[in-house]
Parts: sequence; structure tokens; C-alpha cells
Amino acid sequence: MEKINLKIIKSQAQKEIGEAKELKDLDKIFIKYLGKKGKLTHIFHSLKDLNDKKRAELGKEANRVRRFIEKEIKGKAPSSMKVSGPKGKKEWFDITVPGKKLLLGHLHPLTLVKRQIEEIFQTIGFSIVDGPEVENEWYNFDALNIPKDHPARDMWDTLWIKEPQDQKSKRNKFLASEIKNQKLLRTHTSPVQIRYMEKNNPPFRIIVTGRVFRHEATDASHEVQFYQVEGLMVDKDVSAANFKAVIQDFFSKFFAKPVKIRLRPSFFPFTEPSFELDINCLNCGGKGCSACSQTGWVEIMGAGMVHPNVLKAGGINPKKWSGFAFGMGIDRLAMMKYKINDVRLFYNGDLRFLEQF
Ligand code: FA5
Repeated sequence: MEKINLKIIKSQAQKEIGEAKELKDLDKIFIKYLGKKGKLTHIFHSLKDLNDKKRAELGKEANRVRRFIEKEIKGKAPSSMKVSGPKGKKEWFDITVPGKKLLLGHLHPLTLVKRQIEEIFQTIGFSIVDGPEVENEWYNFDALNIPKDHPARDMWDTLWIKEPQDQKSKRNKFLASEIKNQKLLRTHTSPVQIRYMEKNNPPFRIIVTGRVFRHEATDASHEVQFYQVEGLMVDKDVSAANFKAVIQDFFSKFFAKPVKIRLRPSFFPFTEPSFELDINCLNCGGKGCSACSQTGWVEIMGAGMVHPNVLKAGGINPKKWSGFAFGMGIDRLAMMKYKINDVRLFYNGDLRFLEQF
């Protein structure tokens, strides 16, 4: 039965191809016989219900018919085949005209830099960890040794998330401890330190890359949203010397050349001691420009030895373990790498800028 069907399919297809006048007729014929629901495709699907012998026999024949139809269609579609032009005009299809070049997209410079940072840290044994952009007060502040009403909270201009009135009144009835769940947009990637420590035992080395948000005025080196990479290493007897070695190794790999760095004493409630790390402005070579606020140095990261209270908040015994942590601005690194003098260029969607990467 299928054999007869194949014969009919073959002769029908041959007739229709012979009568085809335009390329679109050939398209239709192809779909009718060889498309997903095509007549010949249907026969291929039905082969599975036959016994081995019949399947082999009919399969061979069906393949022959398929090759025949394909050959006939190809043979009928030379450059002389007509295609319908606009408004019914007849045009000739010229297969020698080069195809239209597709415009391919590419990665955003911040994504390129973020991936490169991740790659470098992975080569020195750091794992990549993620955390939520919508955080709560506990992880963003309290657990990082920044209690409520402590002036250190002013270091981060926070975007608080306003709750709908009904939820707020419900929450106010809860215990004071519930208030730790007041939502905000994370002001830094440091809360992921606590989230990770809660679930993992030392020793570990992690980095966290992601977006952070601050309610502050923008200028050439400050944005309202930007990217940070957080680093955390907890082990036995970790010292600031370990931090310096890791960071120097990172910078030489990232910029593929020696880069001058300087460490300044600083203050972060979650590290003790704390420092700020600047690199010599690669945009102006240290002479002073808008990217470095005319100082010749660009503040790239805050860092320090993890405060015992932070280890405790993460469930880790500070008598047994120590560690260093750092938080670095990815945007600022990208500015240095590509010699960009205004951070806002990354976010305004100007194709003249973005197409250069
Ligand atoms: C912090 O955010 C700390 N969490 C960093 C830290 C982590 C310290 C772990 C100690 C231990 P700071 O606010 O300085 O610190 O920001 C870190 C980096 O983010 C800065 O050095 C800078 O490179 C970048 N940065 C800060 N504010 C902006 C901004 N508005 N726009 C672009 N980049 C910024």
C-alpha cells in the first residue's frame, strides 16, 4: 500500500514541479511533500510500525523518492526562475548577488570586564557566588556590624523599598526582630559574604559580581547603579599580606602590565583593619583628569581583614578562622582598562560608544 503511495507521491510531485512557475511554487511543493507535515514525511513516520524487512524495503524506496524530489526542485530553481516583485512586477532572481550581512550584537563592555575578572579569580582558586539585588536591612547592614542608627550607615546612601500600606501595618505588629527584614536595594555586594558564610564552612575563597544601587548624585565617576566585585577569603592565619599578593596578581593579569597601587588606611565597620586601594589613573597616566577627579589616582576598592563580629554573624568562629574581604568597582576598572573618562557612558545606551567594543 505504502509502495503505491510512494509511486503516486513521486509522480504528483514531478508533475507539480514541472508546472511550477515561481520560486514560491517550489517552496509550497517542498512543504507539501518534505515539510514537517509533508506527505513523504508522513510515510517516514509510519515506518516505525512495520516489521524489519518491510521497514528496510520501504525506507530505501522512500529515501529514493525524497532524493528525487529534492533533485527535481533544485534543478527547477536556477537563476532564471521568476520571483514575484513588488506590486506584481516581475523580477529576476540573481543568485550571484551577495546576501545581506546580519548585524551581530556583542557583549557590553561591563559584561566583558565582569567576565574577565571572574576568569582571573577562578584561575587562583576563587569560586563565583551570586546574591539578591533586593536585600534586607539585616544582610546589608546589621550582620555587617552596622547596627541601626549607627552613623556608618550614612556611608551608603540607601534606596529603601517602600512597602504597600497594608503590608507595612501588618509588619509593625510583628516583633522588633522582624524589622530586620525591611527591604532595600543592596548598596554593596558585601551582604553576600554573610549569606555565603551561613551556608558554608571555611576554608573558602569566593568572589561575588553584581549590580549595586546608591541614592547619590551622578558625576564622571559616580553612578546611581553600578557593578561591584566582592572578594572573601576565610582560612587559618590569613593576613593582609595574603590580600596584597592576591590583588597584585589580579591587577597584573587584568591590565596585562604592572600597575602602581597604593593602600590607604580607611574605615569599614565590617573590616578591621580597613584600607582603601587606589590605582594610578591609567586614563591620564597620573597627571590628573576628569576620571580621577584631577588627583592622578582612582579609588578602586575598599578592603580589610574580616571583623570578628561579621564572622560571628555568618556562624563562623573568629578564634579559629580569619579572612580578608574586598569590594571593587567594576565600572571604575572598565574605565581604566578602556580609557573611558565618564562612567555614565556605560548606561546611556549611545550606540556610538557601545559599538566600539
Ligand atoms: C563598599 O561598598 C564596601 N562594601 C567595600 C568593602 C568590601 C570594603 C569588603 C571592605 C571589605 P565603597 O563604598 O568604597 O565600599 O565602594 C567600593 C568601590 O565601589 C569603590 O572603591 C568604587 O570603585 C566603587 N564605587 C563606589 N561608589 C560608586 C559609584 N557611585 N559609582 C561607581 N562606582 C562606585
